[in-house]
Amino acid sequence: MVRFSLAIVAAVIAPVVSSVQITVKSSGGNATTRHQYGFLHEDISNSGDGGLYAELIRNRAFQSSERFPANLSGWTPVNGAALSLKTLDKPLSRALKTSMNVAVGSSKGQVGFSNDGYWGMDVKKKKTYTGSFWVKGDYKGTFTASLRSNLTGEVFGSTELRSKARAAEWTEHSFKLVPTKSAPNSNNTFTLTFDAAGVKGGSLDFNLISLFPPTYKGRKNGLRIDLAEAIEGFHPTLLRIPGGNMLEGYTNKTWWDWKETIGPLEDRPGYPNVWGYQQTNGLGLMEYLELAEDMNLEIVLAVYAGLSLNGDITPQDQLQPFIDDALDQIEFVSGAPTTKWGSVRAKLGHPAPFKLRYVEVGNEDWLAGGAAGWESYKAYRFPMFLKAINARYSDIQVISSGSVFDGYDIPAPGNGDYHIYGTPDAMVDQFDLFDQTPVTHIIGEAAAVHPNGGSGWDGGLMEYPFWIGTVGEAISLLGYERNTDRIIGAAYAPIIRSLDRWQWAVTMIQFAADPALTTKSASWYVWELFADHLMTHTLPVASESSAFNPLYYVTGKNEDKGSYIFKGAVYNSTDGADVPVSLAFEGVKPGTKAELTVLTGPADPYGYNDPFTGVNVVKTTREKITAGKGGRFEFSMPNLSVAVLETVPSKHPKRKTMRNGFRG
Ligand code: AHR
Repeated sequence: MVRFSLAIVAAVIAPVVSSVQITVKSSGGNATTRHQYGFLHEDISNSGDGGLYAELIRNRAFQSSERFPANLSGWTPVNGAALSLKTLDKPLSRALKTSMNVAVGSSKGQVGFSNDGYWGMDVKKKKTYTGSFWVKGDYKGTFTASLRSNLTGEVFGSTELRSKARAAEWTEHSFKLVPTKSAPNSNNTFTLTFDAAGVKGGSLDFNLISLFPPTYKGRKNGLRIDLAEAIEGFHPTLLRIPGGNMLEGYTNKTWWDWKETIGPLEDRPGYPNVWGYQQTNGLGLMEYLELAEDMNLEIVLAVYAGLSLNGDITPQDQLQPFIDDALDQIEFVSGAPTTKWGSVRAKLGHPAPFKLRYVEVGNEDWLAGGAAGWESYKAYRFPMFLKAINARYSDIQVISSGSVFDGYDIPAPGNGDYHIYGTPDAMVDQFDLFDQTPVTHIIGEAAAVHPNGGSGWDGGLMEYPFWIGTVGEAISLLGYERNTDRIIGAAYAPIIRSLDRWQWAVTMIQFAADPALTTKSASWYVWELFADHLMTHTLPVASESSAFNPLYYVTGKNEDKGSYIFKGAVYNSTDGADVPVSLAFEGVKPGTKAELTVLTGPADPYGYNDPFTGVNVVKTTREKITAGKGGRFEFSMPNLSVAVLETVPSKHPKRKTMRNGFRG
């Protein structure tokens, strides 16, 4: 009785919030690109070497550059051996000139070296680790390769292989190693030893010492499974490669030259990565293309545009070699196997051309070279690339690295690229940014990185994606999707980072050597939800009872699945109240079922998924709801929530559908 009275009192004093009435038309709107949700990958914060690229050995080939001289970082002698770098008269290859000399000295028994990986190595029993190394020197006997604890020396697995080493030349040795025990933590090393007594001449030279765990899709020279699967898990449909700043390089002599990233690893010299380390280039152009193929991603391929981070601006009369290089690159990716560069790709094992519809010229050309760099881009660099690319490939859409909002009147038929690293409020402002923009754009980099009120590198960068920022991202994505006739797609950037190397705060996925630390951020859950419900067409709204804010949404259909879709987010509702929604799709009858998924966050809007506690602040609720009178779905969205409603088709479509509900 008391309870009943309280309920009446509550009902009397609670503000009457009328629902947002949305009626969606059955036609109109736009066909979507079907690749709205993607990511940018470049090797930043060891997200490539030591990250997505599965190689376990750090500094495996002693690669160097003027900026990053060769060193022995990662390597430790075993049993009194002396390690030193050598540039032999006969190096392993033209690309790998420096090798590691292992002198036996007065040591007896097994000598050699260890490598401690990228802040450790994950060792799991019964998994097959595939290793190889090159050696030069006179040695009769066996090599022992093992994985062991860096703390206790315990051996988790080892294998022996007979030496084929010769003094006169480099010989490759390959092995498989299957641990019999899992390591209790990731503080482990790879060790290679040999019998000191079998060495003639006092030392052996080693190079390209490599060890891979099983890789994603079993690719040779492939990707780390848990990280690739975490990325694949958010159902991306778009990949922008290869950066970012990584593409531009420090100078216009040291940009990410794709030709040095393909072919046998012996032929890859590595690259002075702008993120502060010599990169192996093991994750090269071909590996990126295979990643796109394995995850069924639309590729946005960036080509170097003659501007580097030091502000080097290539003069007009020196630009042609870079244009030629870009044309070669496009041919490598998409040319028939009978073409010059298509045949190189075919020889590398991929005769079929990769699908390539988007090519971006440079990266953020409005930034590195200041006003002069941007002026040169607008005056001749972009126009020259655009003309040359479209002259040969009329079906490729060429994207400028700046947007109309960067003050570029992009020449037709060029498109733009817009980047946003913002506060939650700034992400919300994205919602209608492209409503009046006739030029097609990609959102090549997007993420909420600052708290409201913050800006710039010192403006209180958040450590991980945070809930209110994630809701802001959701609203920006809604805005992009409702303009999908002119928005190619949006790429989260950067996608992953190592917890052991800080170079960028907010990334969608965090990781360390220990896969237990692989963490999907709050943003992952929102992007996953939206990407898992792709529309083939947006549909306009016939009537609505209120303007956007605090509810933002986009509506449409997936013709392949025969479903209708609503995606929405609530940001800063009055007094934090729930927002009731009454939603109808013209032609959808009462009794139609729909699945409603609602994501809500923690009490603290700045809460985040902390890799070190494993807490997931995102709460997902899923329920089936039924359209009532007038075919209306009635539901409520809490403040700072993100939701998707998709109708359940009454019968399965006849056409065969692929992943994401699309035909292949
Ligand atoms: O995504 C990280 C960096 O941010 C990119 O390399 C660059 O394009 C942008 O400034």
